[in-house]
Amino acid sequence: MWSSRTPQLPQHAFQRHTQRSTFRNTRGFSTSSSLSHGHITPPKPGEELYVTFIDKDGTEVKLAVCEGDNLLDIAQAHDLEMEGACGGSCACSTCHVIVLDEEYYDRMPEPDDDENDMLDLAFGLTETSRLGCQVKMTKELDGLKVKLPAMTRNLQASDFN
Ligand code: FES
Repeated sequence: MWSSRTPQLPQHAFQRHTQRSTFRNTRGFSTSSSLSHGHITPPKPGEELYVTFIDKDGTEVKLAVCEGDNLLDIAQAHDLEMEGACGGSCACSTCHVIVLDEEYYDRMPEPDDDENDMLDLAFGLTETSRLGCQVKMTKELDGLKVKLPAMTRNLQASDFN
């Protein structure tokens, strides 16, 4: 699991990584998400999926989106405050979102090791944290609500090389 190129993480991050691994193993997740950083097109009538972003001030923004759009692209296309410093390549944690309903979190494909490593560096990490660039909208996620953390930390994997 840990290779020579793995960043040196603080002890609490290692413990959390271990806890997440245990958590994952008991949840029966089956697949990993793949990276897609495309542009957003409006959904066709009748094919809308809805996602709500809640910003750090508590303002809710409900958006109609297409299946396959990822949360980073959606947020940026609607000028929401999500930096996405690495451009969606799973190499920072500035697209950190907190899934508000654990039921929705459980419907998402399992975060892969790269995402977990970056999440360990995220400010305000929770058990339902994800990287927005790694979460694609699906029919199962229709009605998803995510909260943007109060702040993000722009640490990238390259900072540890
Ligand atoms: S934009 Fe950098 S990890 Fe998502």
